[in-house]
Amino acid sequence: MNTNKMWGGRFEGGPAKVMEEFTPSIGFDKRLARQDIQGSRVHARMLATQGIISREDLGAILKGLDEVEAEIAEGRFVFKRALEDIHLNIESRLVELAGPAAGRLHTARSRNDQVATDFRLWVRDACTLAEEGLRALQAALVGQAAANADTVMPGYTHMQAAQPISFGHHCLAYVEMFERDRGRFADAKKRLNECPLGAAALAGTSFPIDREVTARALGFTRPMRNSLDAVSARDFALEYLAAAAIAATNLSKLAGELVQWCSPAFGFVRLSDGFTTGSSIMPQKRNPDAAELVRGKSGRVLGDFVALAVVVKGLVLAYGTDLQEDKERVFDAADALEASLAVMAGMVADLQVNAAKMRAAAVAGYPTATDLADWLVRVAKKPFREAHHSAGAIVKRAELLKLDLDKLPLEEMQKIEPAVTTEVYAVLTLEASLASRMSLGGTAPARVREQIAFWKEKLK
Ligand code: ARG
Repeated sequence: MNTNKMWGGRFEGGPAKVMEEFTPSIGFDKRLARQDIQGSRVHARMLATQGIISREDLGAILKGLDEVEAEIAEGRFVFKRALEDIHLNIESRLVELAGPAAGRLHTARSRNDQVATDFRLWVRDACTLAEEGLRALQAALVGQAAANADTVMPGYTHMQAAQPISFGHHCLAYVEMFERDRGRFADAKKRLNECPLGAAALAGTSFPIDREVTARALGFTRPMRNSLDAVSARDFALEYLAAAAIAATNLSKLAGELVQWCSPAFGFVRLSDGFTTGSSIMPQKRNPDAAELVRGKSGRVLGDFVALAVVVKGLVLAYGTDLQEDKERVFDAADALEASLAVMAGMVADLQVNAAKMRAAAVAGYPTATDLADWLVRVAKKPFREAHHSAGAIVKRAELLKLDLDKLPLEEMQKIEPAVTTEVYAVLTLEASLASRMSLGGTAPARVREQIAFWKEKLK
């Protein structure tokens, strides 16, 4: 006979061979060890305060938990697959170390509320880590923005040079995106911060426990109100994954731009050696592997969200082992996100801007054609549609003569639009165009500097 000693009382046989591999979660949920021990300490203290276990038993349990913690920290702990998961592994070792007192720890508790508690604690920390990673990336972007408030690049729509913008302005657009991502993690963290402990298997317990005390001791705002909800809810994990998936999408966009910008066809930026790799066959290559991997990882993070959403949809209340599938999805997404954020922050901090290349690309696209049309409206009082038409015809002429707009002779412009005067040249340079975009949120370097000051203060 080989039944499980933690629950084998009504069993005669052990698990089927395939089950020994199939059901255990210890391979991955050992990552909950710290939270599990933390939860057990708080639970045991509460049991003693409530007179449910004796002071002596509490002492033995706490001492045993310290030892278990040390064993795990020092890599001496032997994780056993036969003990299924982290909860039973720790409890079983505790029995070995603390004797019969340890058997009292699981009073008024079930693995169902235990795992829900551990996992909430873990995801809460993961939210904090994501917030910190995002903040570091934002700081790196603000640093580039500060160095490049006046650096002109082509702003694109439809991937066609549209209007000149400042590279700093472009960086700050990502700072805004990552700020919203940070907000999503902060919100998720607030909402998940309720304590399932004490819901026991699903219905609560007949022991006179104090859930307010355990909730507070674990840093939760309050105990969860409904025991069924407490053990079955995984929307907190979904919310984390959704926030992670959106953040990964934003990272992917930035990564995609970096890949493009560092391609020799653009040459806008040079990534540092630290974040590029060579080719095994083409000696000249500097591949943006880091950026490409960040872009690629967004696929798995979104996949993690979808996978867990499909697991939990259609489940009946309360606990089902389907829920054991929650952890790997969250761990996988958290690892991918944390690494992506760190890599991206390093890449952005290191990158070198090639202002001449950016400028040349900006000039090539006649990006001040809108400024010409606006001038015709403002100074020559033309209706915008008419001005747009004339400016288009002037661009066509400049293109034919292979001249930049601000180098096209006045007579050429006047042949198309007699209202044009020499004053127009003042708005046709890239710098003038940039400086004129002073509307709130615009790309004028003065505006960009205001934003940089705002972010420097906010990210302090
Ligand atoms: N390993 C389980 C999980 O990850 C812990 C809860 C098990 N509860 C149970 N009644 N089998 O969800």
